[in-house]
Amino acid sequence: MKNIVLIGFMGSGKSSMGRFLSRELHYDFFDTDKEMENVTGLKVNQIMKKYGRIRFASEERLIVKKLAAMENTIIATGGGFIDNEENINALRDNSVFVFLDVDDDVIIDRLKRRRVRPFSEKGSIADLVPEIYGRRRPVYERCADITVNTADQTMEETAAEIIRRLKTDDVPLQ
Ligand code: S3P
Repeated sequence: MKNIVLIGFMGSGKSSMGRFLSRELHYDFFDTDKEMENVTGLKVNQIMKKYGRIRFASEERLIVKKLAAMENTIIATGGGFIDNEENINALRDNSVFVFLDVDDDVIIDRLKRRRVRPFSEKGSIADLVPEIYGRRRPVYERCADITVNTADQTMEETAAEIIRRLKTDDVPLQ
């Protein structure tokens, strides 16, 4: 069976949803950020700070290439995964892409609560989210086989919607 790749902005809940779906569907679960942390021994924000976004993106590409050999796996990606066409191409053939779309104000609220500053870019969270998400949203949408808007839904409801649409939409897992 194909992999299910979760894409979306920071704070959209890709990792929590990934763990949940993997239990529901009896799939393996990988989180590209976590994999990178395991390989480098550094937290993602430390990798970003110490080596910069270009090096971060190249580490991410290596992890994605490795994961491309998987099957029956839920893969939670980092928010910037789609900035790199190679990442999308590496997983395209044996994966279904699911975009977790969350309204800007919900993302802003979630990111403001984080202990670690989520952006390396200068500026307030309230300004950066609409700017960066506005730029990335069309790419997430173009890349996605399924887009779910998580507004007013619990994680369980969104997961049920994803599972239902994997069965009914024209995006076969096999
Ligand atoms: C990033 C999102 C982060 C992480 C890194 C870069 C981004 O992942 O990969 O800090 O550019 O949006 P999450 O979306 O899992 O927080």
